[in-house]
Amino acid sequence: MQDKINQYTADIKAFVTAKADELEAFRIKYLGTKGLVKDLFEEFKTVGPEEKRTFGKVLNEFKQLAEAKYNELKETQDSGPKTQDLKFDLTLPGEGLAVGSRHPLSLIRIEIIDIFKRLGFVVAEGPEIEDDWHNFSALNFPEEHPARDMQDTFFIKKNAGRDDIALRTHTSSVQVRMMENGKPPFRAIMPGRVYRNEAISARAHCFFHQVEGLYVDENVSFSDLKQTLYHFVQELYGDGTQVRFRPSYFPFTEPSAEMDISCTICKGAGCNMCKHSGWVEILGCGMVDPNVLENCGIDSKKYSGFAFGMGIERIANLKYVIRDLRLFSENDVRFLNQFKTEVI
Ligand code: PHE
Repeated sequence: MQDKINQYTADIKAFVTAKADELEAFRIKYLGTKGLVKDLFEEFKTVGPEEKRTFGKVLNEFKQLAEAKYNELKETQDSGPKTQDLKFDLTLPGEGLAVGSRHPLSLIRIEIIDIFKRLGFVVAEGPEIEDDWHNFSALNFPEEHPARDMQDTFFIKKNAGRDDIALRTHTSSVQVRMMENGKPPFRAIMPGRVYRNEAISARAHCFFHQVEGLYVDENVSFSDLKQTLYHFVQELYGDGTQVRFRPSYFPFTEPSAEMDISCTICKGAGCNMCKHSGWVEILGCGMVDPNVLENCGIDSKKYSGFAFGMGIERIANLKYVIRDLRLFSENDVRFLNQFKTEVI
């Protein structure tokens, strides 16, 4: 009996596998109802009292050994595959996590906001679904005036009984909300998405993004406007970028202008981007029309102000030379990944 126990003990100690079928065979062989432990206990019943005293303890220890071995191997099996069963190489380096990148329009928006923040402008936001008053009437667009056709509007049919609801065509509507709800001075920029009913092509889209600005205080003059925008251009495109103002028309500003900068691609020599003129238009601006101030409850005798607005897709085009506007909204990672190096 002692020999058998010695032999089995050695066998059990040498047993290392944790494969499910081999482990089950182990259990049946040693611990099963017809297993070796059971056999030994049967045999134990037949021996004399002298041997009983010797073997009682030994037999119990053997049983515990078999059970402990089984439980130990069972546990390693439950906690996952054993290394030798794995079909892949654990020494290979892991796959890196893909790191996202900021959208180029976000990069530009953040940069523009930073420049104006340093001049003391705050950021103001407003709703994308607007009423006629905030998008047009308060901004001096007369009823039925053709100026409303300047911006092809998406009207929203009868909303809660109203038929003057539209998707905002510019963030000037936020200027109106700001002036209505506060007291001068105002010094703010309004970033946001705007909508115009245009066929989608490489050069036009039915939505785009703007940053507009408003400065209202006592004694604000056109030279304040020029200097602010001149400073903005030097910060964004670098010292030495030329600017020029051309007279223009907007219902909400008087006088109005459009501002061009010397082409950032060819530095004024003439290229595709500037249609060989050396200049590219980047924004509209002007002195806030006194009617607009009065519409918003501001005394136009005491206060004056300037406003400006730019499409930031255009600004991004000039910075990154992106020739198709549609790329901005297609979310193609091959496009977006190119902006990874820009850390903000
Ligand atoms: N709101 C004008 C537009 O969307 C831009 C603008 C803003 C022009 C402020 C002048 C003053 O085209």
